[in-house]
Amino acid sequence: MLYTEKVMDHFANPRNVGEITDADGVGEVGNAKCGDIMKMYLKIKNGVIEDVKFKTFGCGAAIATSSMATEMIKGKTIGEALKLSNKAVVEALEGLPPAKIHCSVLAEQAVKAALSDYYTRLGVDPTPIVGTVGDCEACHVH
Ligand code: FES
Repeated sequence: MLYTEKVMDHFANPRNVGEITDADGVGEVGNAKCGDIMKMYLKIKNGVIEDVKFKTFGCGAAIATSSMATEMIKGKTIGEALKLSNKAVVEALEGLPPAKIHCSVLAEQAVKAALSDYYTRLGVDPTPIVGTVGDCEACHVH
């Protein structure tokens, strides 16, 4: 079995799919190599991520990792969401095949891109807080 049960579950029943029309931050990242695109919407109140939705035009692993990433940041503070690594998402999914690790990077970067947008809208330079988004080898930000 190439994929764990958790991956199959999040692929078949992705959590938090959709969009938030009055989102406080929206991030879109794409992987130049595979052409997959991920869009993340955040509703933030008092520094807490109250709601999160995503849309992924991509592979099954990208869908499963974005689904898991949204579950892991929902109800958390911005600081906690910023600490979310693709490694933690992969661990929560009980593993991904090596060729699919880059898909989890897309999920991590989408969260960071949405938080960057949140700070930019507030007139705050996001770079010192969020870091450079899309600096992984195969990703680039739109
Ligand atoms: Fe592109 Fe998975 S193959 S994100």
